[in-house]
Amino acid sequence: MEIIASLNELDKVVNHLKEALPQNAIVFLRGDLAAGKTTLTQAIAKDKGIESEITSPTFSLQQCYRGEDGEALYHYDLYRLEHEAFMQMGLFEEFEKSGWHMVEWGSDALKSFLEAVGYNVAIVEIEPYDDRRIYRIQS
Ligand SMILES: Nc1ncnc2c1ncn2[C@@H]1O[C@H](COP(=O)(O)OP(=O)(O)OP(=O)(O)O)[C@@H](O)[C@H]1O
Ligand SMILES: [Mg+2]
Repeated sequence: MEIIASLNELDKVVNHLKEALPQNAIVFLRGDLAAGKTTLTQAIAKDKGIESEITSPTFSLQQCYRGEDGEALYHYDLYRLEHEAFMQMGLFEEFEKSGWHMVEWGSDALKSFLEAVGYNVAIVEIEPYDDRRIYRIQS
């Protein structure tokens, strides 16, 4: 699935994800620096009625937000973090918690590992396209 969206059209992407993803999902956000990974997470948060600001959780690795209906939204930024380190911290068990888990900079190794232990990993690849973005979604 491919969607082209400007900043004002992110609901197109959010609505597609709502239809395509189950209630519990791991979503790897792929794309270069400043592609729009955090921005998409912000749009999802807004849709869930989350009031707090979504910033890149660079220093905490994970942030958890609660939507209006009590549903959780998790946001991870694994930039520079090795898969092994992630595992050692036991953070991967976090993925068992119910809700959507939005992961920036998840490695191929982590994806393979998660799939090997039985998780489904959805991918959203974001690519600049003039002043918009192309979102390629594999759920
Ligand atoms: N669909 C879009 N159309 C136009 N601009 C966008 C879109 N999505 C994001 N941007 C802009 O791209 C810039 C970078 O966005 P963002 O911080 O979300 O990137 P990122 O992928 O999270 O970067 P990083 O890898 O540094 O965490 C912001 O200025 C944001 O407004
Ligand atoms: Mg970011």
